[in-house]
Amino acid sequence: MITVKTVRELRAAVARARSEGKRIGLVPTMGNLHSGHVALVAKAAQRADFVVASIFVNPLQFGAGEDLDNYPRTLAADQEKLLEAGCHLLFAPGVEEMYPDGMAGQTIVSVPGVSEGLCGGSRPGHFDGVSTVVTKLFHMVQPDLAIFGEKDFQQLAVIRKLVRDLDLPIQIIGEPIVRAADGLALSSRNGYLSEAQRASAPALYRVLSELAATLRSGGHDYPALLAGANARLSEAGFVPDYLEIRNPLTLQPATPADRQLVILAAARLGTTRLIDNLLVDLD
Ligand code: PAJ
Repeated sequence: MITVKTVRELRAAVARARSEGKRIGLVPTMGNLHSGHVALVAKAAQRADFVVASIFVNPLQFGAGEDLDNYPRTLAADQEKLLEAGCHLLFAPGVEEMYPDGMAGQTIVSVPGVSEGLCGGSRPGHFDGVSTVVTKLFHMVQPDLAIFGEKDFQQLAVIRKLVRDLDLPIQIIGEPIVRAADGLALSSRNGYLSEAQRASAPALYRVLSELAATLRSGGHDYPALLAGANARLSEAGFVPDYLEIRNPLTLQPATPADRQLVILAAARLGTTRLIDNLLVDLD
């Protein structure tokens, strides 16, 4: 595996692979890699001949007062994990390489609809930052396929719409959430939790799982079910940000006609904001 820091080197390496007839797969990340990220890279290695991963903590998708400065940067450990997972090329640019003219005048790619509400409601501008950096990475690498986790369910929906709306010839593959043994979805932000908070954190998945079971057994009074679930989150020490039952394709509020639902949640434990979601099949 080689690591490059410039767009020029990235394009040259990918062009070489493409001229050998290789299928190119891309896995964008912000680093501090865990088994969730590794699963995406392993999937890319199955589906593509040349796997590109990127590590870039993208300032454009962080709001004021968010954790941009504290976001964990662990390049050497990440490189080992990527190599082991079957990555061929790591692109790890600095901010000046991605935004040479600064971020103030940067052209912004903004995906309407699915980016509104949920995380888009709590983190204004976040998805504009994501869709802009992912569009740039797509143009730099021009992959045949790109892999994203269902952990960031709304992000995946935003990327799918972006690719459709801009006619990008890139297959988008979503991968299931990788969880710790106690159910907590793996996240780089779990590292911010104190020991006591880490012990409380699996309650988020537990509450979603209980709600899913109730929905599957015919529960349909959404407001009452959500109020109960929010109360259980609060009892576990969370400050809920949102908890919603939505249509997984449109991300619109679920209707009685929907046979597949997704429960989406974001909640804070102290200053750490965790997200999780669960697909529910009613058939
Ligand atoms: P990051 O949070 O590093 O996540 C990179 C990819 O890993 C995303 O597609 C995310 O959904 C996936 N992922 C994270 N935790 C996961 C888990 N427990 N199971 C499965 N997949 C998981 O998401 C971003 O970075 C950024 O927004 C990015 C797309 C790189 C744009 O900057």
